[in-house]
Amino acid sequence: MTDLILGIETSCDETAAAVVESSKLIRSSIVSSQVQLHERFGGVVPEIASRAHVDLIVPVVAEALVASGVEGDEIEAVAATSGPGLVGSLLVGVSAAKALAMVWDVPFIAVNHLEAHLYASFLEDPDLQLPLVFLLVSGGHTLLVLMEEQGKYRVLGSTLDDAAGEAFDKVARYLGLGYPGGPAIDNLALEGDRSAFQYPRSLVQENPATLPDDRKFAFSFSGLKTAVVNHVRSNPDVATEDVVASFQEAVVDALVTKLKWALESTGVEAACLGGGVAANSRLRERFLEVCDSAGVKGCLPSRAMCTDNAAMVAAAGYWRLKKMGPSPLNTGVDPNLGLV
Ligand code: KG4
Ligand code: ZN
Repeated sequence: MTDLILGIETSCDETAAAVVESSKLIRSSIVSSQVQLHERFGGVVPEIASRAHVDLIVPVVAEALVASGVEGDEIEAVAATSGPGLVGSLLVGVSAAKALAMVWDVPFIAVNHLEAHLYASFLEDPDLQLPLVFLLVSGGHTLLVLMEEQGKYRVLGSTLDDAAGEAFDKVARYLGLGYPGGPAIDNLALEGDRSAFQYPRSLVQENPATLPDDRKFAFSFSGLKTAVVNHVRSNPDVATEDVVASFQEAVVDALVTKLKWALESTGVEAACLGGGVAANSRLRERFLEVCDSAGVKGCLPSRAMCTDNAAMVAAAGYWRLKKMGPSPLNTGVDPNLGLV
């Protein structure tokens, strides 16, 4: 069995490499963030991101190997994110991983970034039992997924417009709070009153039975974003901390309500949270409350494992290799790769 896996993640603006043993022991995890390069543009600039990955990939991989205490030729497989993400960024990580796999003569594994976010939970809680419901909330995705067995997923619902992280980033940008917006709103919301304003919760109502099936587990955040912007535009003196606390509460309410409905309808005994927005303090608190009251085990990865990293890529790569074998070396990148 392949035990030592080098993971590489370059799907967006983080260049990351990690060495993981047996899919559960993180020997090293290095994340080099490009936030400073992108913040003056208020978002990730794809061309700048891919060029930065080219500069950073070799030092980051070298640092991950040194920190792990593992020699390159002890690595038994190399896994890299092949999608979804920015095409130029993905190409850098996948090309580096294939080159290393060829040099060391070990398998290459193409990993789905969404699946990697899910495997962050298994890294920290290897005894997690299936089936489970996974709520994935990141900058590019908002998905409610039923994981029936390793590698077998059913997407229960996704966002009809903006992803939750995208809504955080857009609202923060409008309010001049900088990029990325999620952590800025999370911090400022601690000083605000979350019941100050009742912003809309789309597709959330008291009786889920009145929603058609294709909307029951779906999300929508663009109306909420517009409501916040219109409110602040007409009330320029409103306290920003109250606005962001109320906005955050509306996002979290929608997320945990759909999770609760998914737990009721599937009857699973475990749920896990993943993706960058899973680092949000209020979401973490409400996620555990919902799991507790539903009587299911709630798995909450550490904040570092929620945001993009390569340890989760190595962990997902381990399972993919075990179940499906290596990926061919001509596997390309897929910016729009889905979970199923
Ligand atoms: O998973 P991730 O690191 O990258 C993608 O795959 O998209 O997620 C990044 C997203 C960004 O939109 C960022 O604003 C959001 O996660 N985020 C947060 C927090 N930390 C990161 N959103 C809310 N609260 C946070 N504490
Ligand atoms: Zn991500």
